[in-house]
Amino acid sequence: MSAVVDFTRQGDDVSESLLDAKTEQLNALLDAIAERHAKVKFASSLAAEDMLLTHAILSRRVSIGIFSLDTGRLHAETIGMIDRVRERYGYKIETFHPQQQAVEAYVAELGLNAFYESVEARKRCCEIRKVEPLNRALAGVDAWVTGQRREQSVTRAELAEQEHDAARNVAKYNPLADWTEAQVWAYLAKYNVPVNPLHARGYPSIGCEPCTRAIRPGEDSRAGRWWWESRDTKECGLHMSPVTMLSAAGKAAS
Ligand code: ADX
Ligand code: SF4
Repeated sequence: MSAVVDFTRQGDDVSESLLDAKTEQLNALLDAIAERHAKVKFASSLAAEDMLLTHAILSRRVSIGIFSLDTGRLHAETIGMIDRVRERYGYKIETFHPQQQAVEAYVAELGLNAFYESVEARKRCCEIRKVEPLNRALAGVDAWVTGQRREQSVTRAELAEQEHDAARNVAKYNPLADWTEAQVWAYLAKYNVPVNPLHARGYPSIGCEPCTRAIRPGEDSRAGRWWWESRDTKECGLHMSPVTMLSAAGKAAS
């Protein structure tokens, strides 16, 4: 039997002073985002980074709404995090679901698990279950926030803290862009934030149940996402719209 990596134990080597400094910066950025924009929403996948941001927003009552895209294919453990957040913070995360008709048409034409058969079929499923509901969730917002980090993949290596989401013509923020995985876990442990139990069972990154597996020691943190595809196709489309990177001052970077 192969060893199971417990990702909840990754934060032990982070110094308290560094963590406090990063937390202060994060809190200041979240306050600035809420002040700068009339309507801001945070997209939470309910995984580790997003629980960190949920704690930073709710424990300090920052005026940023939280929603999750319930694709209909999430693990029971992931869905359970919605109740954990309600119990801990007294906050009900807003959920958005795919359109039933689109799901039924997809399943009738291609089958329930057609995403294993081609990249095209996988992208169509993500479009129906994630991207279209995301567009509905973001209707009328001035800005949105994500839990993406640069370290997570090659496609995120250049991720800016602030971007312009050109497709929706709104601001987009990635406040954890420069956080390391160890820093994320140190924060979650320090503030005793509830986390998805799958992280202790070998899952660093969590998406839909049929498209996510636990990883083995030494594997890349996204190796368990759409593991049957090559690395360069592994994006679901949530973060694929054209964006302009902005500097900290809010000007387009040259
Ligand atoms: S994905 O594009 O590969 O699915 P990933 O799981 O790394 O994304 O998550 C990156 C960010 O996308 C999360 O921090 C969150 O902001 C957003 N996100 C991903 N999945 C969801 C979801 N089901 N609901 C809401 N936001 C999500
Ligand atoms: Fe469909 Fe898998 Fe994409 Fe979820 S991650 S929407 S199940 S293809």
